[in-house]
Amino acid sequence: MSEGELELPWRLSYFVEPGYLLPVIMGEDNLKNTMQKFEVRDDDVFLVTYPKAGTNWTCEIIDAIQHVDNLEVLKTRSLIEKTPLMELGPSIHPEIIAEGVADVPSILEAIHAPSPSPRKLPTHLLPKFLPPQLFTKKPKTIFVDRNPKDCIVSLFGWHESTRFLARVEWDHFFDAYLKGLTEYGPYPEFIKAWYPYKDEPWFLWTRYEELKKDPKGSIKKIAEFLGKNLTEEQLNEIVRITGFEYMKKANENVKGREFILRPEGVWQRKGVVGGWKGWFTVAQNEAFEKQYNERMKEYGLEHLKYKF
Ligand code: A3P
Repeated sequence: MSEGELELPWRLSYFVEPGYLLPVIMGEDNLKNTMQKFEVRDDDVFLVTYPKAGTNWTCEIIDAIQHVDNLEVLKTRSLIEKTPLMELGPSIHPEIIAEGVADVPSILEAIHAPSPSPRKLPTHLLPKFLPPQLFTKKPKTIFVDRNPKDCIVSLFGWHESTRFLARVEWDHFFDAYLKGLTEYGPYPEFIKAWYPYKDEPWFLWTRYEELKKDPKGSIKKIAEFLGKNLTEEQLNEIVRITGFEYMKKANENVKGREFILRPEGVWQRKGVVGGWKGWFTVAQNEAFEKQYNERMKEYGLEHLKYKF
């Protein structure tokens, strides 16, 4: 399968440039124009993740830290306000309309530009697609890494759940990943693009697995990075309301759920480490590791490799 032969189930995705596939819901105009002119504020908090690395979870944590004195406000947010991906919208793609999603605004214009500070700005994009001011103003930026095998399985599950992507068979999806034909491209390329910022003072590089292992310690670290000293009570409350089960329950009736999810779709799927083992065949695992090991070595990123 090559780019030219793309067909179902990729009808809801497009190449914004050769080799870089995005869901059509991530509007091309947003990327090429609005994003490039977007005004970054010094107190913005950017959140950078490969798809399915825990974006919603970390966004909720950032929101809770930013609004620790009024946590009730989190309950009023719609699903899109909870995780307002910068690249979302505008999309008038006929297939999206066929899915019943009539009008997706530019999130940058509809949510971010008019939002009061401090803002949270999540994205899965490569640095070159983001506002140039991010790299001159250097606001606090949190990067969440996750075992790429778990990300791939989770992204596969997301194709099932969201109306913004088309359903796909696992084997088909897995092959497409290896060929660089899944949304946001292959994982090693993403890590390579962001690695140059890893040790800069405005950048916090963390992992989904660390958050899972020690939520309290990780949330404390994120809060301190954002310049907030939380009390023990505040910390415990943020751990509680950002826990998997709590978020799953809270999001069952959240505003705007039907806009993003199919009726049977799930937002909080499993939330575990190592779930890929139930999906990868032995042959798929070998093929994955071969490519992963070769690319991470070629890019000088072996020290960032996951031990599976
Ligand atoms: P799984 O599909 O493996 O369950 P993203 O927000 O980047 O799309 O990532 C989605 C993944 O984060 C899903 O992984 C989801 O279940 C998991 N997740 C969401 N909220 C979580 C939480 N509070 N704790 C742990 N994992 C969470």
